Amino acid sequence: MTGDEARFTLTRIGHAADASQQMIADVCAGLTAEHKSLPSIYFYDDHGSALFEEITRLPEYYLARAEAQILEMYANDIIAAVHPDELVEIGAGYARKTQLLLAAIHEREAGNVYVAIDVSESALRHAGENLTEMYPWLEVRGYVGDFGSDLASVQREGRRLVAFLGSTIGNLPLDQRPSFFDSVASMLEGDDGFLLGIDLMKDESILIAAYSDSAGVSSAFNKNVLTVLNRELDGDFDLDAFDHVTQLNATTGCMEQSLRANRHVSARLETIDLKITMEAGESIHTEWSCKFTREQITEELANAGLSVTDWWSDAENRYALVLARRASFAPA
Ligand code: SAH
Ligand code: AVI
Repeated sequence: MTGDEARFTLTRIGHAADASQQMIADVCAGLTAEHKSLPSIYFYDDHGSALFEEITRLPEYYLARAEAQILEMYANDIIAAVHPDELVEIGAGYARKTQLLLAAIHEREAGNVYVAIDVSESALRHAGENLTEMYPWLEVRGYVGDFGSDLASVQREGRRLVAFLGSTIGNLPLDQRPSFFDSVASMLEGDDGFLLGIDLMKDESILIAAYSDSAGVSSAFNKNVLTVLNRELDGDFDLDAFDHVTQLNATTGCMEQSLRANRHVSARLETIDLKITMEAGESIHTEWSCKFTREQITEELANAGLSVTDWWSDAENRYALVLARRASFAPA
């Protein structure tokens, strides 16, 4: 074992143990419902994780650049405010922007442990191998699991900064966010910090462009969920029979992605013996990408017993990083 390998461990927790049973239950429920849907967790196989990385480099997808800009300016302040022994990142992906936090951690002589939780094993391997090579002082613990159910399985190693970047919180619709924030609050003790990246509500045309780029990467990412089903459940979905659709739901403040049949579709998922028929124009809902206001996120966090102590946004006020603490420990 090389030194870098010794500093990177990968563990499967909760969901990962019976991921295929969960997928079968989710797909059966979602595709037999009157309004068809699939959970967005199934976008992220190896190819889906790589496609998301490509999305973050698109000119239209301002979210990743805006968040990186904030971290470039304020990572030092964030680390100074919490001085963590461990950085725990939920939905870490390839953990590129995380490097800005890790550099500040090293500069401020905070802890040397980075914990990453993600459903994508390939993304965690990519992140773990890259970060241990970049930072010889860093211990990386990767956990393959579902952040909707498995956060309590992550062992505590000291004062925590829990980070949830990328506005991935927006992929949880309003009714799923309270229990998620409750489980994050349960990960925190004392004056630990929770750093949350959120995309702010803005002009519809900017949002539409971000989710339907001219290079077609968003469309490929959306359709990848059908490739995952074809592979995992022995299916025969024809990807060309679907169009990528994105629209702003003005009531919920969420961008919603779906796959709309452009002709009659008849598909079969052999493994679960499920036949799916769809008429032209019928859709499968695949993703929420909710946008936030300061008031709304402050209230949602407060409902989980978390107080916003700091707020940083980019120069154009498109995106924000929020630092929250357990209300009982937040400075008045
Ligand atoms: N934080 C990174 C990646 C964001 S993409 C960034 O800001 O660029 C969303 C990440 O969350 C992906 O890596 C995906 O694999 C992961 N993810 C999505 N749903 C998940 C779930 N339910 N449980 C665990 N990880 C999930
Ligand atoms: C990971 N997540 C925050 C992205 C988003 O913006 O909702 C996923 C994505 N979907 C389409 N483009 C990017």
